[in-house]
Amino acid sequence: MSQAAERAASCAGPCDDFAASVLEGLSKPAKSLPCRFFYDSIGSALFEEITRLPEYYPTGTEIAILEAHARQMVEGERGDAVLVEFGSGSSIKTEILLRHMTRLRAYAPIDISESALSEAKRRLMSRFSDLDMQPIVGDFTHPVALPPEFQQRPKLGFFPGSTIGNFTPTEAALMLRRMRMTLSPRGRLLIGVDLKKDVGRLLRAYDDSKGVTAAFNLNLLARINRELDGTFDLEAFRHEATYDPLEGRVEMHLVSIKEQTAEVANAQFHFRAGEAIHTENAYKYTVEEFQGVARSAGWTPQRVWLDGSLWFSVHELI
Ligand code: SAH
Ligand code: AVI
Repeated sequence: MSQAAERAASCAGPCDDFAASVLEGLSKPAKSLPCRFFYDSIGSALFEEITRLPEYYPTGTEIAILEAHARQMVEGERGDAVLVEFGSGSSIKTEILLRHMTRLRAYAPIDISESALSEAKRRLMSRFSDLDMQPIVGDFTHPVALPPEFQQRPKLGFFPGSTIGNFTPTEAALMLRRMRMTLSPRGRLLIGVDLKKDVGRLLRAYDDSKGVTAAFNLNLLARINRELDGTFDLEAFRHEATYDPLEGRVEMHLVSIKEQTAEVANAQFHFRAGEAIHTENAYKYTVEEFQGVARSAGWTPQRVWLDGSLWFSVHELI
């Protein structure tokens, strides 16, 4: 068995489809790679660096909305409720809710990145010592089982960061329907959604002047080299961010600078000069458009909190 095959075989859980997904994505006529594979430990650290960039407005804007309205957002939540978070990453935004949920003591963050979850657990346990925090390493696009002791309790869902935007509206509706089942019965969901805005601001957020987003995107090829015996020349691909106004989405690509061939787990992939691998979509919504997606997934939109510039929205769904 090759080194790559051995690693794939020993890698249970959400990472076990990395090899198959990469081989499938690179074999398509229009090459693509799933964005969930950005988040190995290096990718998760690069994402945290992105959130601190001045150009990447979503994080700071959503934090400001949460700081201003967290009390109202969590008011009336039952003391035995469990906070269930999808794609929790560093859990920094969660702390804002937890500070206002003095009676809530149970938290189930779900993330594909083991390193992000363990780092968040270490920090949160030092700040909220009586929190029953049960991290779940898992893929939230599939049904995720909560720990048995949490299953019968009321649940508040939290899905910040506009991570929902990384899925097509059809995929997003399917996921929202699944999350409704995870949070049932009578769960409530607070979800952060990035809004449509000036294209220049959007593109600067996804192609920053320090090149951190470029490094985040290129790390996908570096990860393939590390984990799947890949031979990608990182100098021979460049990061590109574009906006598609018809789809209402920013797209990230890795563009081959020259004609070249790369190997992955002994399979060869040819690239023409200028040929791109599509690595991420980030859909942007109006408030009404997102409410339509939520309704199609069985949710009833309630309150919506916005910032003064109308850059970002936090929706309450029941
Ligand atoms: N909620 C944080 C992090 C957003 S980044 C914030 O708002 O800043 C997106 C997070 O979702 C990352 O931590 C990534 O590891 C996780 N993620 C991406 N795709 C995932 C998937 N399919 N299943 C579970 N977690 C996923
Ligand atoms: C996690 N997700 C919502 C981020 C986004 O904005 O789509 C990931 C990201 N990609 C580039 N920069 C940040």
